[in-house]
Order: sequence, then C-alpha cells, then structure tokens
Amino acid sequence: MLLIATLAFLFLSAVFAAPSLDGYSIIWADDFDGTRGAAVDLSKWKYQVGVGNTNGEEQVYTTDPANAHLSGDGQVYIIPMRSGDGWTSARLETQKGWNCPAKKAMIFQAEIYIPNFTNNPSKYKSLWPAFWAKGISNRNGVSWPGCGEWDIFETSYLRSNWNQGTLHFKDANGQHNSTFSGRVQYTGGEYHTWALKVDRRDGDWQTDKLIWYLDGKEYYRVTGSQVGNLDVWKQLAWQPYFMIMQVAVGGGYAGGSPDAGTIEGLEASMRVKYAAIYQSN
Ligand SMILES: *[C@@H]1O[C@H](CO)[C@@H](O)[C@H](O)[C@H]1NC(C)=O
Ligand SMILES: *[C@@H]1O[C@H](CO)[C@@H](O)[C@H](O)[C@H]1NC(C)=O
Repeated sequence: MLLIATLAFLFLSAVFAAPSLDGYSIIWADDFDGTRGAAVDLSKWKYQVGVGNTNGEEQVYTTDPANAHLSGDGQVYIIPMRSGDGWTSARLETQKGWNCPAKKAMIFQAEIYIPNFTNNPSKYKSLWPAFWAKGISNRNGVSWPGCGEWDIFETSYLRSNWNQGTLHFKDANGQHNSTFSGRVQYTGGEYHTWALKVDRRDGDWQTDKLIWYLDGKEYYRVTGSQVGNLDVWKQLAWQPYFMIMQVAVGGGYAGGSPDAGTIEGLEASMRVKYAAIYQSN
C-alpha cells in the first residue's frame, strides 16, 4: 500500500507538466519538480536581486529560498515577506531569451495561481504579482522602454479579478508608449493558464501579430500594421525575449505602500505549476 501511495504521489506531480499543444514543440520548460523547499534550477533561471526601485516598489528581491522555492508537488512559490520595516520577495528571470523565427509562431505560457483579488480585499494591498517578459536587448545596454516589454499577466487588489495584457515600447517618436493594452476578467482564487503568442507565420510583418490568451482563449491582439513601423515591430516581435516571474510589493499600480493589514507569506504568494516556451512545427 505504501508503494502504491508513493507512486500515486509521483504520478500526481507529473500532472503539472507543461501540456503539449497541437502543431507546436516545447523548446524550453520548467515543471518545477523537486524537493520541497529547494531553490529553482539555476541552469534555467537567474535571480534579480536588490531594491526594486522602479514604479515606487518597496520590496528587496533576494535569492533566499524563503522568498522562492519549490513546493514539493511540482510548483514554484514566489513569496513576499515582511522583514523589519520593509519587505523581501523574489524575481526570477530566464537565463536565456527566445525569438520567434520568420514563418513561425512562438508561445510563452505558464499556469499560475495568485491570491484572490476579487472584490478588492484590502489584506492584499500592495501585492503585485506578474508574469512578463522583456527584450533581450535590455541585457545588452538598451534601456527600458527601448528594449520592449510584454505584460502577460499582472494585476493587483485594486483591479479585482481583471488582468491587463499590455505592451511597453519606445515608439517611432522615441516616446514610451503603452497604448496597446487589453483587459480580461478571470475567476479569482484559481489556477489559470496565461499565454502570449508571437505569430509570424504570414511572412508579412504588417499582418504578423502578438496574441494574448487566458485558458487557451484569445482576448487581445496587436498586429504589425497597428504598430505601423517595422523597426518598432522588430523591437516587439522579432528580437528574443526573456521571461520574468515576480511578486512586487508597493507602487501605485498595487495601491501604494503596504500597511499593517497587508498579509505576507504563502497566502500572499504567486504559485506557478509550469512555465514553457513553444515553437510551431
Ligand atoms: C474569490 O473571492 C470571491 C469574492 O469574495 C468569492 O466569491 C469567490 O468564491 C472566491 N473564489 C475562491 C476560489 O475562493
Ligand atoms: C503609440 O504608438 C502607436 C503605434 O505606433 C501610435 O499610433 C500612437 O499614436 C502612439 N501613442 C502615443 C500616445 O503617442
């Protein structure tokens, strides 16, 4: 009986593996399998550390397993914690970046649980979980927003159970541009699959597109012709992008500074069952 129970448990953890998608191959994935409490696989991820001083954020990102560790049942937990007067948390970035080759499609996808922000519960004030990506040029000297940014899933208690899929980029006038933004409502307190597809299969940059999905259903898209400039489109859709998973604390987006009622720990965490990158066959 003990053996059967052990096998059942092992089988269960495999349930959280990245699913296969028709017409696509997985070119990179992390299923977050491993011992409870262990750090993430550093051949796949690196930590961004230090004070997140952008957007008025207040967390200090660490490499401490207290802030990011494997759950033991096939997930990674990213956990904001109170630390003296301040807060610590974790931000994981993929070691590598991936681009969508010409005539192909590529998908960044993850299955994620965050606290239930439905109806704006104030105990989640200041928590800002996010699954997003930046252009690899950001690691080679190109400052934001010229590196480009895809926001795939981000929200805060101020937004209840709405996600905002957004592009940030440097537009043809050299300005930070965040015009392209799509919203979708999801059911809070549950796992959902969030994805962004780059689709270059048309072979014409003007009809190429970026498409956002919730649980496999498209809710927003932006085409090359909407962006209207090939160099800007290359920034957004041709160059490699690297994936980012984090829980920030503070900043106007998340309701400003945390207060005594803001919760920490596992209940405040973002939980990821898998992260994967797919390319069309
Ligand atoms: C999320 O919160 C809403 C509002 O309080 C509640 O109706 C819903 O049942 C919660 N969902 C889960 C899965 O707990
Ligand atoms: C943002 O970029 C789009 C596409 O290039 C352009 O149509 C729009 O005017 C820009 N927004 C602003 C506020 O400049």
